[in-house]
Amino acid sequence: MCGIVGYVGNKSAKPILLEGLKKLEYRGYDSAGIALQVDQALDVIKKQGKLEKLEKALHNNKVESKIGIGHTRWATHGKPTDENSHPHYDADYNFAVVHNGIIENYQSIKEELLAEGKVFTSETDTEVIAHLVDKYYKGDLSEAVSRTVKRLEGSFAIAVISKNEEGRIVAVRKDSPLIVGLGQNENFLASDIPAFLNYTDQFYILEDGEMADIRKEEVKIYDYLTEKLVAKEIFEVNWDAEMAEKQGYQHFMLKEIKEQPESVKELFKNKINAEEIDLSQTGIDRSLFTDTHNIQIVACGTAYHSGLVAKYLFEELVEIPVQVDVASEYRYRKPLLDEKTLVIVVSQSGETADTLAALRLAQEKGARVLAFVNVQGSSIAREADHVIYLKAGPEIAVASTKAYTNMVAAFYLVSLQAAVWLNKIDEKRKQAYLKDLIRLPELIRQVISNVETQIKLIAKEYISHKNIFFIGRNLDYTIALEGALKLKEISYLHAEAYPAGELKHGTLALVDEGIPVIAVATRKDLFDKSYSNIKEVKSRGAEILLITWEGYLQENDTVDHLVELPDINDLFAGLLAIIPLQLLSYYTALYLDCDIDQPRNLAKSVTVE
Ligand code: G6P
Repeated sequence: MCGIVGYVGNKSAKPILLEGLKKLEYRGYDSAGIALQVDQALDVIKKQGKLEKLEKALHNNKVESKIGIGHTRWATHGKPTDENSHPHYDADYNFAVVHNGIIENYQSIKEELLAEGKVFTSETDTEVIAHLVDKYYKGDLSEAVSRTVKRLEGSFAIAVISKNEEGRIVAVRKDSPLIVGLGQNENFLASDIPAFLNYTDQFYILEDGEMADIRKEEVKIYDYLTEKLVAKEIFEVNWDAEMAEKQGYQHFMLKEIKEQPESVKELFKNKINAEEIDLSQTGIDRSLFTDTHNIQIVACGTAYHSGLVAKYLFEELVEIPVQVDVASEYRYRKPLLDEKTLVIVVSQSGETADTLAALRLAQEKGARVLAFVNVQGSSIAREADHVIYLKAGPEIAVASTKAYTNMVAAFYLVSLQAAVWLNKIDEKRKQAYLKDLIRLPELIRQVISNVETQIKLIAKEYISHKNIFFIGRNLDYTIALEGALKLKEISYLHAEAYPAGELKHGTLALVDEGIPVIAVATRKDLFDKSYSNIKEVKSRGAEILLITWEGYLQENDTVDHLVELPDINDLFAGLLAIIPLQLLSYYTALYLDCDIDQPRNLAKSVTVE
């Protein structure tokens, strides 16, 4: 969701800014632009649509500059048009501004500025920033920006350049991520680390309320309220640039699906062996659970679905009541929690605005917060009381696959270890579970290679349908939900997941001749019940795809496509069952010619509520 980049150094800024924007494409956007500072003037080029359009426009523009800012916009205020794209500027082109987030009080500021005779050229909330900086500028850019942001309400990450101050970018963060990349005689600014991993692995991560004054030889960080200098620690990133490249795959999503055996292995490294789970490196211990009366899991999107898996795990293994909430709902109801509640927030990006707000709310009410986060140094990782890093590596495709898998795998580890700490399972059961977990990466690899060809054929059939249903019971239902979400996100087909037993309370009315129904049935104790539900839909004409264990379906007069999984304890089957569903959405979207890595209207990192 919106991406900011900035560069100041000795090199040509245009290609570096463009490269940075390309690396941030995954965040989701519908227009893009850059502003360059040249000979005491600003040159602003912006285009609605994909970056190729901006690239073309830049190609025809011969301006050369060593400093600039850039932006990919995900429209909130005003349609995606050239005019509404960032950077925005004041009437005299003195200042150019890029912004992520939402300025909640922009309307009243705009009225004030209009009354003063300022002319607006866009419908955005952002444009008020450019006019305010112009109004407050008395020869020092950081002072003008600091006065400006004190007037703004809402969430923002902002970068500003001025035609009068050569080689200087001033940037501010409040509730929207911003990092400064540190180079030799050059420095970078971005919303997210992958933008400049090719140039540096050293970053300052701005905290809320901080302002960065960036020049090529130095970066100063201030608190913009007190205007005092802040001593920042350098954050060294251990992702390398190659990890964020496609490496020959047509799409990041397929690459990330295929990386799952390795990413689970990476998560398990040093945390699990033949005898024990060892979470000591994460800093969490028995005390986190001994005093816990209930668990609340809060997240959005795919991360929320991982929380649903966890509910079944914790309740079955640890016998602690678990409530799972979508963060945007949780934060605005009055959740009942106290110091005996453990709140677990889950987030790939660590920047999702609603999840971050839920974390803060839980802490305010005295609960302890454990976060499962993929992105190092992200806001949620920094604010939570305890963090388990997901170790999935950079996930670029908007639709999450390997991060989801590692979220679920992390829940396997934590719930199992909590059960051990609380003496809820005996040694024998523990050993059996550990054995299965150790096999999990290899079994995921087997499923990928066993089912891909079969899934491609099924996907070819599915492209002619408009509605697809998913059913499952218990843990299988959570996998059905995630499978349906994947299909919706990238193929734009309508997909609905239902608890198999709930179908007859309404949804069955929609099942008609030829409609595809995907049934996930890996809970062995519930297989017969799920199979009865499959028969119910079959007898109304549905085409059935069943995902279950190898050799489990003895007589088949019902199922049209059978996808079989290698055997593992059915508590952990979800991570095998999700693989065919991820591949199915990928290939369906591919055959429908959809923009797989950047589906329309969606963003990877949702930093506004
Ligand atoms: C967006 C993404 C989803 C993601 C959700 C939560 O909607 O498109 O893929 O699951 O945000 O993101 P998080 O970074 O908090 O896991």
